Amino acid sequence: MTKKITRRQALLAASAVVFLPVANGQGSATNISPSTVFSHGVASGDPDSTSVVIWTRVSGSEGALDTTWRVATDERMFNIVATGSVQTDSSIDYTVKVVVKDLVPGQQYFYDFRARDEASVIGRTKTLPVGHVENLVFAVVTCSNYAFGHFNVYEAIANDLSIDLVVHLGDYIYEHGADGFGADVASRIGRAHVPSHETLTLDDYRKRHAQYKTDVSSQAMHAQQPLIVIWDDHETANNPWMNGAENHDPGEGDWNARRQASLQAYYEWLPIREPVVGGAKDEYWRHFKFGDLVSLITLESRHTGRSRQISYGDYLPNLQTAEQAREFKESVLDDTRRNMLSEDMERFLATELKESVNANRRWRLIGNQSVIAKSISPKLNKPFFEELMKSLDKPGSDKLKSLTRFGDLELPDDLDTWEGYPAARERFYTIAKSAGANDLLVLSGDSHSFWANQLFDENNEAMGLELGATGVTSPRSLLVLGDEGLKRFDESNAADNKEIVWSDGRHRGFIRLSINHQKVHADFIAVSNVETREYVIQPIRAFDIEKEGETLRYS
Ligand SMILES: [Fe+2]
Repeated sequence: MTKKITRRQALLAASAVVFLPVANGQGSATNISPSTVFSHGVASGDPDSTSVVIWTRVSGSEGALDTTWRVATDERMFNIVATGSVQTDSSIDYTVKVVVKDLVPGQQYFYDFRARDEASVIGRTKTLPVGHVENLVFAVVTCSNYAFGHFNVYEAIANDLSIDLVVHLGDYIYEHGADGFGADVASRIGRAHVPSHETLTLDDYRKRHAQYKTDVSSQAMHAQQPLIVIWDDHETANNPWMNGAENHDPGEGDWNARRQASLQAYYEWLPIREPVVGGAKDEYWRHFKFGDLVSLITLESRHTGRSRQISYGDYLPNLQTAEQAREFKESVLDDTRRNMLSEDMERFLATELKESVNANRRWRLIGNQSVIAKSISPKLNKPFFEELMKSLDKPGSDKLKSLTRFGDLELPDDLDTWEGYPAARERFYTIAKSAGANDLLVLSGDSHSFWANQLFDENNEAMGLELGATGVTSPRSLLVLGDEGLKRFDESNAADNKEIVWSDGRHRGFIRLSINHQKVHADFIAVSNVETREYVIQPIRAFDIEKEGETLRYS
């Protein structure tokens, strides 16, 4: 419960280990004093204009434990505006989550926790603004695989104090065991997954979240910036749909039990609000309103409505000619019964987009999991790729051969994305058009590439633009092509697809969005390296986005 405390009480309590914001400079934000009790750091997120979730976790306890928390308007925690006590125990893995209420809109706050005579570091957070808002800065990230590298991207974000909040588009953790995806890199750099087996049970998912939260750069970013986070597939298992997942085998137990375990751990370990009473954990969607400047509506596209992914393995023997490819598209891919979003999710989207248009907010952002632009495989019948083919080993040349075949047949290569659900994509656009929102700015994760795309519905009506974030650490799956091959693949992708303006699969990084009423400025920022803690920040491309009539354009 929120209550005021006196200034004297605040001063007495102000002997905590202090985490002060730092100026730009690599490495500086991670100088956090270690705490044995609060060894997973602090975090905040899921804000609205008068409340925000603050989070921590208490280590080494047995039985129930009281944790006190404080919120102040200054970084030295003198001017305390709210404080309280909350109990945690093993039923929630000793995580601590408080929805701090009755705060002032658009205000920066600082917070900390105390338990067993120890204090946490001090975190910084912010409520959403109301009324006229001049500008906002978001960092957009996705695909943070502990095994594939150091979270240098998180550190770069922690050091940029102009960032108002971080939008994480999913794959916050990965489910693979220590011998799975990323194992070679992990053993080279000492970041093997814990537990060492694939996560299946509640205990497994808790341990995996705990490991990710021990990362110093993760702790620095979460202490410094509030988080808006959605899940994609790997928070549970690769490529899930309503009743299963590609990476869930019959021997791994009941799918629903596994999904519930993963979602329970997710709610425990991330600074997000619990579902309303009677609501289900998987119904996880939000509309964040930033005064008159931005609406950010987030999607759930994995567990509540998605039809099973089409597997090329079932169709490839009969996909040899252009005629067969056309038939496959018409009868299988375009099946209008195939869903990406649940009916409830679509209803929420329709209502909230309408509200955003009626409120005359300047920009409508969508927090989306996988890339939505139409992108068939590019044509690779070029001398460079023919030469490359000769130099590759068997798995490499098989991969390039299948890409070449998809390109020849004008088919997409990844049917887990919106490309595998074209009818659902059209429904998404129809909902937006009905709300008067042909000006979507879709933010997408999952692909481990940067993207700047433009979006059109099946009648060629402009629907807005899409910005795709590359992985924090996860690499593009086409590494077999090599650096030059990836560059040429991306160039061919843009040349062969009307909706792709630019893509880049060669870098790890984040998007920094600087938003005002005139334009959205998108910086695609890479880090030079994720396999050591030393790195350089490399801005690799920037786009300005402006309104043009009813829609958006790159300027
Ligand atoms: Fe990913």
